[in-house]
Amino acid sequence: MNQTLSGIVQSLTPPILWNAYLRMRGTQKRFPWREFGTIMTCVDTRPLLEGRFAELYAKHRPLDPFRPLDVVRYRQYNICFLANLCRHVPGDFVCAGVSWGFSPRLVFDFVHFPSLGKTLHLIDPFEGIVSNATDEVSERYNSNPDYVLRQYPPGAPVVLHRKRIPLRLPGKFAFVFTDTGNPAADAESLPVFYESLSPGGMLITEQYGNNLDHYEPALSRLGITALWLPSGQGVIVKQ
Ligand SMILES: C[S@@+](CC[C@H](N)C(=O)[O-])C[C@H]1O[C@@H](n2cnc3c(N)ncnc32)[C@H](O)[C@@H]1O
Repeated sequence: MNQTLSGIVQSLTPPILWNAYLRMRGTQKRFPWREFGTIMTCVDTRPLLEGRFAELYAKHRPLDPFRPLDVVRYRQYNICFLANLCRHVPGDFVCAGVSWGFSPRLVFDFVHFPSLGKTLHLIDPFEGIVSNATDEVSERYNSNPDYVLRQYPPGAPVVLHRKRIPLRLPGKFAFVFTDTGNPAADAESLPVFYESLSPGGMLITEQYGNNLDHYEPALSRLGITALWLPSGQGVIVKQ
């Protein structure tokens, strides 16, 4: 089959049948379809499934009792990868939207956080809120901050702020990660976080792709653009 025809057949064939076909042919050129939440890919996904990231993902993912095994694997890989690029940028790390604490705990280990001489700021009111404007809460969110703090070794440079974003914290930031499930709050916080980012620092926000109406006005006021990842995450780099 030539490459174009093969691509068409592949896009029309259910992954389970396509993977069986690949096994039958013993082909090395294409990789099986894998699904990671909203991301489906047939490239080689070994970086997500083997090595240090995969080991830490397996270790910490049970912290969140509600997330199925692979749903956030691809997104967490992006977060860890970008956080790692910011290891030597001056300033602290910030995670807004903590809940069960899985993402910040994974990043903490992945970047060898204690060796960096930085502080990890965790921001969440732990009220289970889904919006700053209503009283609606989600029972899938954690409301016990001690559950999160207990995850870290004694003396870990972690500070928990039981507050809502937008929130202005003192100091400069190397890496900011927002995942409040509340795109209005994440977008409203962009100017505050962007101002505190050191040059070369990065901000990654989880809900970007599906909520451009929230993010675009904030970005255009700042005169910047975000990198729109296929996962739906948005990335901003401070110039
Ligand atoms: C999707 S969960 C975070 C998941 C976490 N990043 C993880 O990977 O385990 C969203 C959390 O954001 C919190 N939240 C909602 N609105 C917020 C706001 N304005 N400021 C800070 N946290 C908020 C919710 O209470 C909830 O705990």
